[in-house]
Amino acid sequence: MPDHVLAIDQGTTSSRAIIFDRDGRVVASGQKEHEQILPRAGWVEHDASEIWRNVQEVIGLALSRAGLTRHHIAGIGITNQRETTVVWDRATGAPVANAIVWQDTRTQDIVDRLAADGGADRFRDVVGLPLATYFAGTKIAWILENVEGARERAEAGELLFGTTDTWVLWNLTGGSDGGIHATDVTNASRTMFMDLDTLTWRDDILEAFEVPRAMMPEIRSSSEIYGHAKDSSLLRETPIAGILGDQQSATFGQAAFDAGESKNTYGTGNFLIFQTGEEKVLSDGGLLTTVGYKLGDDPVQYALEGSIAVTGSLIQWLRDQLGIISSAPEVEELAASVEDNGGVYLVPAFSGLYAPYWRADARGTIVGLTRFANKAHIARAALEAVAFQTRDVLDAVGSDTGLDLTELRVDGGMVANDALMQFQADVLGVPVVRPVVTETTALGAAYAAGLAVGVWESLDELRGNWQEDRRWEPQLPSHEVNRTLRLWRKAVTKSMGWVDDDV
Ligand SMILES: Nc1ncnc2c1ncn2[C@@H]1O[C@H](COP(=O)(O)OP(=O)(O)OP(=O)(O)O)[C@@H](O)[C@H]1O
Ligand SMILES: [Mg+2]
Repeated sequence: MPDHVLAIDQGTTSSRAIIFDRDGRVVASGQKEHEQILPRAGWVEHDASEIWRNVQEVIGLALSRAGLTRHHIAGIGITNQRETTVVWDRATGAPVANAIVWQDTRTQDIVDRLAADGGADRFRDVVGLPLATYFAGTKIAWILENVEGARERAEAGELLFGTTDTWVLWNLTGGSDGGIHATDVTNASRTMFMDLDTLTWRDDILEAFEVPRAMMPEIRSSSEIYGHAKDSSLLRETPIAGILGDQQSATFGQAAFDAGESKNTYGTGNFLIFQTGEEKVLSDGGLLTTVGYKLGDDPVQYALEGSIAVTGSLIQWLRDQLGIISSAPEVEELAASVEDNGGVYLVPAFSGLYAPYWRADARGTIVGLTRFANKAHIARAALEAVAFQTRDVLDAVGSDTGLDLTELRVDGGMVANDALMQFQADVLGVPVVRPVVTETTALGAAYAAGLAVGVWESLDELRGNWQEDRRWEPQLPSHEVNRTLRLWRKAVTKSMGWVDDDV
């Protein structure tokens, strides 16, 4: 009996394949970065064909490093960067343009046009989201409006849309030769087009965006057999049995299944998810209402989400654009070389501000500079910005739900940073807890797939796999916390209103 599960984690910066055993432990993995294509300010693209090649390569790497073959793999789970939009030709499999990445802000004009009639919240009751460049809907509309011939081909039924879960699933199940064109409820809930109550596409909203329904994938649950890998794959005949958007997947991998449970992931951006169970909560505090997961025919589980666009990518920016560090972990050393932030605050509003502010007119700002400030203060301010933004989101969760968190479960690449985790506990005033397996994004998709094919029987069994690795307790005196938070919030106000109509 095969009893391993392979998860494909198609992320913003890289694609990973990770093989897990029945205890939820990592057996082996493969990982490959893909190019971040930045054609102009505000635009972020990926080459979807490169992504598919990398996915195939990392599957091979993980299998060979594990010394396993498809006969050991009971099922495949897919998790993915959400919202990133691929449109391709169903007959050839060729993308019609580069994928437009979730961080991309080029569709602000389309957002403004749609918001002119009914405001940014005009679809929020139905889809849980405000109009924003972040979600897939305006990205599809942009491709149809700007890529030559795309609209005619889409209307003729020749083009397909998918986020990268759908792109990987379609290719893995045969592509133009019978590939399955489907997505799961969590990914569908990030398009602007899915009705959160009925879990179906809304024709009226598709029409408002002028997106033909024929492009849209079928919406399925997060845990069921969608299809089987085709002959050309190393995994041929293996069922693909789980799909979850990366943030919902990390929550699932943290075994935070029930209403009131949550996690915060520190990756390219930060994403806090708070499960609300079968109750759909509409936020007053700038949080998104989204689908948490849906297992087969079981009832859908909803969640609130606080999305922060720029956290880990700020550290990449220090490395790649400023060149003040040569690798991400070096930021810790540089930041520790000074006693404090020297009065410097950095608001990384590179794509505007997401939760809880939702200010498209904000841009990145460094304030409090004096002749004294040096690169170490900027590194420190960057790390602190990650923790401050998380505090703002948690305050919104508290006010929306009336619940105060007693601790915060964390994961993602940045949780390797000890100083950041300590400062996070300090500014939150609650302990921060890291599990043994921090590859929770991949683990969640593995769990969803493994539940569908019988590797695991129940959520309780998965809860038993979760183990604490490390805990940071708050240490900073409260008057210090209050002072630094006040300055942070002042800095946030300085980042707002920067973008004028003529830029
Ligand atoms: N020691 C560190 N200190 C601070 N930041 C770090 C450290 N190590 C990694 N990072 C940051 O963590 C991020 C990588 O985290 P992770 O691998 O979880 O990203 P990710 O969001 O999963 O990537 P993807 O978007 O591809 O899914 C990078 O942006 C990197 O800058
Ligand atoms: Mg990730």
